Amino acid sequence: MKFFVDTAEIDQIKELNDLGMVDGVTTNPSLIMKSGRDIIEVTKEICSIVSGPVSAEVTATDAETMIAEGRKLVKIADNITVKVPLTWDGLKACKTLSGEGHMVNVTLCFSTNQAILAAKAGATFISPFVGRLDDINLDGMDLIEDIRMVYDNYGFETQVLAASIRTTNHITDCARVGADVITAPPAVIKSMINHPLTDKGLAAFLEDIKKTGQKIL
Ligand code: E4P
Repeated sequence: MKFFVDTAEIDQIKELNDLGMVDGVTTNPSLIMKSGRDIIEVTKEICSIVSGPVSAEVTATDAETMIAEGRKLVKIADNITVKVPLTWDGLKACKTLSGEGHMVNVTLCFSTNQAILAAKAGATFISPFVGRLDDINLDGMDLIEDIRMVYDNYGFETQVLAASIRTTNHITDCARVGADVITAPPAVIKSMINHPLTDKGLAAFLEDIKKTGQKIL
């Protein structure tokens, strides 16, 4: 399972990347706004840190301009993945850009049918939004499971990139149902390590060795 970090915050990307936890990065216009940085500059800096795919999202809504934006974005670095929305124009842009050999991430996916269309348009990644489905009382994980099954039924090579991951349970469930990639905020990835029995056990071990008066160094 690959881990992408869902952020444009350089320090947080560096911290997890140094631990070998970053297989790629996803950004979106809201994350760029949150970073307060210029989209081209911050994307270039992320690509200089991370060697895996870095998704940068187009901002146009018509295919022609999306394609022009995508062609500009891919010039930033070899590992740029152009992110396009799941609209007919987005799929046209996906078809053209993937045909030119560029990686494309089709985002804002909320149904299996949309995921089928994206695969047929040559998407490298499909991004179904788990948390946003949960937000409206649907089950985001059902969608991941369904897309996995359908892609496997037909041998589609598009990778299932589970997005809008909000909890550590989302990550476990994605691993169970076979998502190829999860993209999550750094804080969610970091909290995967938490377990009260680890903390309790370590405290007891440290207390016991202290009682012996022994030190290794
Ligand atoms: C990533 O590609 C998505 O844009 C992101 O995961 C959306 O997450 P959110 O629903 O928490 O904003």
